[in-house]
Amino acid sequence: MRIADAFRIGLSRLDGKDNARLDIELLLAWALDCSREQLLARGDEELPAEAEDRYRAGLNRRAGDEPVAYILRRREFMSLEFEVDSSVLIPRPETEVLVEEALRRTRRRPALLGEMGTGSGAVAVSLAYYSRGSVVHATDCCSRALQVARRNALRHGVAPRVVFRLGNQLEPLLAAGLHGKLAGVVANPPYVATGDLRRLPPSVRHWEPALALDGGPDGLMFYRTLGRQAAALLGPGGWLGVEVGAGQAGPVTAILASAGFGRMVSTRDLAGHPRVVFGEAPK
Ligand SMILES: C[S@@+](CC[C@H](N)C(=O)[O-])C[C@H]1O[C@@H](n2cnc3c(N)ncnc32)[C@H](O)[C@@H]1O
Repeated sequence: MRIADAFRIGLSRLDGKDNARLDIELLLAWALDCSREQLLARGDEELPAEAEDRYRAGLNRRAGDEPVAYILRRREFMSLEFEVDSSVLIPRPETEVLVEEALRRTRRRPALLGEMGTGSGAVAVSLAYYSRGSVVHATDCCSRALQVARRNALRHGVAPRVVFRLGNQLEPLLAAGLHGKLAGVVANPPYVATGDLRRLPPSVRHWEPALALDGGPDGLMFYRTLGRQAAALLGPGGWLGVEVGAGQAGPVTAILASAGFGRMVSTRDLAGHPRVVFGEAPK
């Protein structure tokens, strides 16, 4: 079978799915162990039998709604490649707004930072990678996720500067005695209201960990604790930055303001939605 024919088979197999063309290109490039750019010039080449088996298996998994990132076991974030598996949320492009804004605030100078709910480690590792010399203390309550995150820190050469801690929200950082010591805290907490989980697309609902999505009855549960815990961890002039879901910027700003945060600003993502909220620590 020619590569171009494999592409056509993919289109009919994934008919009706969002991003089918992109997913097929990614699956074919993965099966052939080449880049997407190289693939485009190879349409007339024969697909070796082993690559065809791999491609068909990947296509079947994708047809069953498994996200392509889990099939490939990788996803790019902040121009870095991250290992992912079903224990971690697939890093989203919107979350790059959180990292960019945090980097702007550190002015890329070494800083002591915290992250709640690190998952694949995408945020903590990117912060350590692009803010050379900074140290990030990152938590997650899922030990499998922390194993993935540790491998990602090693992969990008920042393992000595990212400390992963297992535990509930920011409690491990408080237990480590980091009160008043952090320059910044970031979080992309679970923020989908429990009742809305069933409305998520099947590729999210059936495949991504509920632990990474479920933000409690109103979706805002984590922000309430985060505000209090971050206020205790931040030093003078410190800041807290959080990602928020659709329609949550206002309520989250109010929650953080009631925990004493000031100078609140929200930043929009490329689609124009308010995506992150930052505030300065109570004096
Ligand atoms: C939305 S995901 C964010 C993952 C990653 N930071 C990112 O932006 O791609 C939320 C993460 O919070 C973790 N989490 C959920 N409940 C938690 C808790 N009580 N304490 C610590 N982490 C928690 C989940 O395991 C998940 O990895």
